[in-house]
Amino acid sequence: MASVHSLASTVNQRVADALSAALPEAGAADPLLRRSDRADFQANGILALAKKAKANPRELATQVVAGLPAGDVIKEIEVSGPGFLNITVTDRAIVETLAARAADARLGVPLAENPGTTVIDYAQPNVAKEMHVGHLRSAVIGAAMVEILEFTGEKVVRRHHIGDWGTQFGMLIQYLTEHPHELDHQHGGPEEGEAAMSSLNRLYKASRVLFDSDEEFKARSRDRVVALQAGDPETLALWQRFVDESKIYFYSVFNKLDMEINDADVVGESGYNAMLEETCQILEDSGVAVRSDGALCVFFDDVKGPDGKPSPLIVKKSNGGYGYAATDLSAIRDRVQNLGASTLVYVVDARQSLHFRMVFETARRAGWLNEDVHAVQLAFGTVLGKDGKPFKTREGETVRLVDLLDEAVERAAVVVREKDKQGRLTEEEIAERATQVGIGAIKYADLSTSAARDYKFDLDQMVSLNGDTSVYLQYAYARIQSILRNAGERTAAAHPELELAPAERALGLHLDQFGETLAEVASAYEPHKLTAYLYQLASLYTTFYDQCPVIKPEPAPDVAENRLFLCDLTARTLHQGMALLGIRTPERL
Ligand code: ARG
Repeated sequence: MASVHSLASTVNQRVADALSAALPEAGAADPLLRRSDRADFQANGILALAKKAKANPRELATQVVAGLPAGDVIKEIEVSGPGFLNITVTDRAIVETLAARAADARLGVPLAENPGTTVIDYAQPNVAKEMHVGHLRSAVIGAAMVEILEFTGEKVVRRHHIGDWGTQFGMLIQYLTEHPHELDHQHGGPEEGEAAMSSLNRLYKASRVLFDSDEEFKARSRDRVVALQAGDPETLALWQRFVDESKIYFYSVFNKLDMEINDADVVGESGYNAMLEETCQILEDSGVAVRSDGALCVFFDDVKGPDGKPSPLIVKKSNGGYGYAATDLSAIRDRVQNLGASTLVYVVDARQSLHFRMVFETARRAGWLNEDVHAVQLAFGTVLGKDGKPFKTREGETVRLVDLLDEAVERAAVVVREKDKQGRLTEEEIAERATQVGIGAIKYADLSTSAARDYKFDLDQMVSLNGDTSVYLQYAYARIQSILRNAGERTAAAHPELELAPAERALGLHLDQFGETLAEVASAYEPHKLTAYLYQLASLYTTFYDQCPVIKPEPAPDVAENRLFLCDLTARTLHQGMALLGIRTPERL
């Protein structure tokens, strides 16, 4: 179906037309229309334009007003201050625009004009290692961006760049050859993932102890690394076991997170092994990388070490080994040349920003990135404990992600039980809702601060019914569903001829902004602006619900239908927005 122009963009266009009629040299200048407290909208762009054209701003504004007679869309327009325009729209225009939105399955959200292909790198835990809160952020933010970008029409390719290569595998594999049953555990069942990780952990610790205490084992482990890198089949098969066992665990955690990860999209560091040598060759031949103390390095004017000496990106070590940089550079070539990416997005911890800055600049010098293909790191901050320090257990260990998820679901169960005063829900229903509320709470808390900032992990706050939380939005949604169910033979229907109450107008004008909000969120990679939009939507709905009775006391039939229509569109917008964030909206809570 056709996309719907928002009322805001219609008004903006009209003001722009009147502006270019009054001041032809302004061309297609943007009047910068914004929502405002004084009227519905305020246009702030005239001042700057008048200054540029050496015209009197108030006079120009007055001319624009004269060119915009009140009518079907604009109800009132007046000049204010030094040359702002205050604009009030008609109730009819609000309801008609919303009705067009409601008639579309996409809620009228336009598709991007020039969609491209984005390869997004997110949810990248490390083999044989426990997943912690840092992995939560990448997974949650990445998954939301995937959904949002796809919704705007972008082609999206997912890549999970898991850490599955490196010298530590020599130690692990060697230990496994000497203790062949260490990875055995019960297969099948919901606990399989946890069992896989606990045997991996045991093996990791045991092999580490041996490595540090037994020189001969250490030597054998080093030989193993050489065998692994040389592609020795037996060694590779053992390495594959580590990868497979770890994936069982990762998938169990992602499943808990209510997140779908496809095996085909898991292309770990090892996936680029065959390209490493060529990548280095190209960089060396083109002079982008140079030999320095035996290593192959790329230097940057603005990157220096603590000693003031330039600190290079090392693409090949002096012993011939390849590291994180060579892998990432090869991944860029693959994503650009084989996957056809026009944009590369990396959802990775801000502490890796220097790495990405150097990798991107190297790729630019090599021509892999250019005006048509660009790369961005969607860098996220650290998850902090209540004390404001990086989140650790009391013993100072990193907190296991699964433990946090389980605890969130437990807390949510308490909330759901408390709310279900009449005891209508079965135990099974409580468990299901608790999962949706608890996991939603964790995702929402992660998404609702701007990604670059650190945030405090506070479960009490996350599952609170009051405030900027997912459960507040979930309740708003469930409440609307209950109203729609109880509406009897009344049905939702738009009535543009009616006069609207202030709370109806405010809700309607906010609903109008859904498409614009999504476009902004998609282009700036800022999911927190979507949570802010949805939270405000739920708040405006709450005010509307308090001030504008839908069923009791019973309003006139046309008023009731129009209110049900607003209820329905609010619910659909909440549902769509939350779905993009990966958060469930149960029909009943
Ligand atoms: N596995 C890495 C970690 O846990 C993150 C990988 C990020 N992606 C990349 N292409 N380097 O820190």
